[in-house]
Amino acid sequence: MAVFAVVFAVALSLVCISATLLRWNELRYRKKGLPSGTMGWPVFGETTEFLKHGPNFIKNQRARYGDFFKSHILGCPTIVSMDPEVNKYILMNESKGLVPGYPQSMLDILGKCNIAAVHGSTHKYMRGALLSLISPTMIRSHILPKIDHFIRSHLANWHHHVIDIQQKTKEMAFMSSLKQIAGIESSSIAQEFMHEFFKLVLGTLSLPIDLPGTNYRRGFQARKNIVNILRKLIEERRASKETEEVDMLSCLLKEEENKYKLSDEEIIDLIITLLYSGYETVSTTSMMAVKYLHDHPHVLQDLRKEHLAIRAKKKPDEPITWEDYKAMRFTRAVIFETSRLATIVNGVLRKTTQEMEINGFMIPKGWRIYVYTREVNYDPYLYPDPLTFNPWRWMEKSLESQHYFLIFGGGTRQCPGKELGIAEISTFLHYFVTRYRWEETEGNKLVKFPRVEAPNGLRIRVSSY
Ligand code: HEM
Repeated sequence: MAVFAVVFAVALSLVCISATLLRWNELRYRKKGLPSGTMGWPVFGETTEFLKHGPNFIKNQRARYGDFFKSHILGCPTIVSMDPEVNKYILMNESKGLVPGYPQSMLDILGKCNIAAVHGSTHKYMRGALLSLISPTMIRSHILPKIDHFIRSHLANWHHHVIDIQQKTKEMAFMSSLKQIAGIESSSIAQEFMHEFFKLVLGTLSLPIDLPGTNYRRGFQARKNIVNILRKLIEERRASKETEEVDMLSCLLKEEENKYKLSDEEIIDLIITLLYSGYETVSTTSMMAVKYLHDHPHVLQDLRKEHLAIRAKKKPDEPITWEDYKAMRFTRAVIFETSRLATIVNGVLRKTTQEMEINGFMIPKGWRIYVYTREVNYDPYLYPDPLTFNPWRWMEKSLESQHYFLIFGGGTRQCPGKELGIAEISTFLHYFVTRYRWEETEGNKLVKFPRVEAPNGLRIRVSSY
């Protein structure tokens, strides 16, 4: 009986303490002018629920508090905005003090000249330098031939093998970028670089706790190693007298010809930006396209028709050209429908640099704003029968130019790598569907990755087409 009384008393005190802490945290943030919502526990806020339930957490909160509510996630008081008009306003108004609000670990590890860490004129300059490397002219004459060459060799010998498609598309996204940036391919440097890069990515998604054994510490160390590799590459390039093949590094180092004069530190952070931004987006879209194509044979049939028609006009080893890429209309539709249905990017983060009024509420300085764009992808008015994988919807009208199309972001930070990313995925699909057929062997279960629900360890058995 006494034991029961003690257990009861402890349980009751825990309930009381928890209720007091929750209430205290709510009162702390109950400033006049803030939208409704819950703030969870002191310090931790609602991070656990957010990470555990992902999009469902946001959906539930929306049902209770509407399209614009407050929360406390990932260590910061946050406004979640799902209102399309408000989101557009936020994305268009960086100059009013709505700057990128990515987590500290990401900013620390990607470097202080990283594009998400710079604002105003510095952002404009860094973005200009980046765009000059990946413009349509550059893709057409220098990058597409490199992508074509790389993907052919990456896809060689898959016949009769069981392939972990997630692993392969990750390697593809990274290695293809490395070839475009510095002409490096399947050497020991590439392997070492990739190993460090995967650690860097994990570090950017971790809590910024600088202790031995943490992903943050490992990520930070990986950054140092990558910086050393890049410094060496830059020195070697400067020392070498040979006329180089054109790649992104050679363009950045040609001081007389390039109107953007970047310091070595800026060049290094720009290269890390390029590798990081295209990595998860391109690899996950490619993997999910393979998954959806497997599940929808009639889509695969039309896609294959498009690519076989292109191949029919070429010699077996002839690379694909810009004109071929532009003719891949159905492939583009498959890529958009994959990005929509899998929601490769749930939303983007901003933060306020001063107290400001948004949507009729006063948002304090330093609050994060989660511009949540996921739900738009499943809006039945915009995309009838939204849960069906239907690439043809992108063929009928110009959905790509609608203002609610935010798969590649919007405003001053709209993805500069959109065309490059689509060109890479299209080239991958070109060689994959014209060379192979495949069946799934395991990994159907969908799991939540930081940004997307995707099959874990999807394996496919590949045979010649
Ligand atoms: C194909 C898949 C891709 C998707 C879905 C995608 C999506 C996005 C989104 C939503 C943003 C906006 C972020 C924000 O507003 O904070 C963005 C920005 C960015 N993306 Fe992409 N991206 C893709 C591929 C790429 C590739 C291949 C590159 C590499 C060149 C790239 C480079 C960037 C950069 C550098 C930014 C930051 C731009 C800035 O802050 O001015 N992306 N991307």
